[in-house]
Amino acid sequence: MISLGIESTAHTLGVGIVNEKEVLANESSVYSGKGIHPRKAADHHADVLKNVLDSALKKSNVSLEDLDMISFSQGPGIGPCLRIGATAARTLSLRLKIPIIGVNHCVSHIEIGKFATEAKDPVTLYVSGGNTQIIAYVAKRYRIFGETLDIGIGNMQDIFGRTLELKFPCGKEIDILVAHGKKYLHLPYTIKGMDFSFTGVLTEALKYIEKEKKEDIAFSLMETAFSTVVEASERALAHTGKKELLLTGGIAASPRLREMCEIMCDERENKFYVPPFDLCRDNGAMIAYHGLIEYKSGKRMKLEDTVVKQKWRTDEVEVTWLS
Ligand code: FE2
Repeated sequence: MISLGIESTAHTLGVGIVNEKEVLANESSVYSGKGIHPRKAADHHADVLKNVLDSALKKSNVSLEDLDMISFSQGPGIGPCLRIGATAARTLSLRLKIPIIGVNHCVSHIEIGKFATEAKDPVTLYVSGGNTQIIAYVAKRYRIFGETLDIGIGNMQDIFGRTLELKFPCGKEIDILVAHGKKYLHLPYTIKGMDFSFTGVLTEALKYIEKEKKEDIAFSLMETAFSTVVEASERALAHTGKKELLLTGGIAASPRLREMCEIMCDERENKFYVPPFDLCRDNGAMIAYHGLIEYKSGKRMKLEDTVVKQKWRTDEVEVTWLS
């Protein structure tokens, strides 16, 4: 079966084409305004959609008539952005007379991560701009074992980078600053049970600007934020008895976060996996693949079921494709 997936939850408009065995195309265009202005990001997605779709078809050597199904990110995400992807998916489904499946974006990150690595039943640390969650499959659901109580680590990183007037997206520049930081500056370490919070540590880090070296501030901020999520991930591994950690989301690109996860997993004799970056960040292939496995497990959707769900939680998804 050939599945085409459309991702449009936030800054990325992605179109992926997959079959059961491989990713045939994974094309995208990223809205690069300062922060995410919902309407402007949605306008960007509408403007680039045809080009991204055409380049995915060309790259995969697949024509529209070859497609067996369409999937799209139904949520969670920014309403106007989600609706661009959903409308395109409905149009393609109607025109080509093929099934449509709306999928949960967070679960798609996990499923493509398992597809791209040897992870089978991991605890997943999903770290991106809008989301920071620790998730594991227990009793027929992807359960959230810990999550941010306010903003995602990526969002925290972007606000910090914008204050330092770094170019957006600033992840790479911050990774370089972090690597050159030497002095750990005192910052609040906020972990409440298994949940974490990043606005307080960000506020305190911003107070050091112009008093301390930016490398030391970046290092201290990211070291603190990463420590909280790695600590909670370790507890999730201990609690569930699972033996694998899967790191995914855009912030999985951070060398320091990878290193911290690796050390923790080595000490526990657990396995640590990170998918290739194109399958970690928001992308269309993960949506195409997740739609495909849901469809093959028997899931069917009517057009009236395809309304977007901005606040759709990971643990609300009925998992029909795993035993
Ligand atoms: Fe994401």
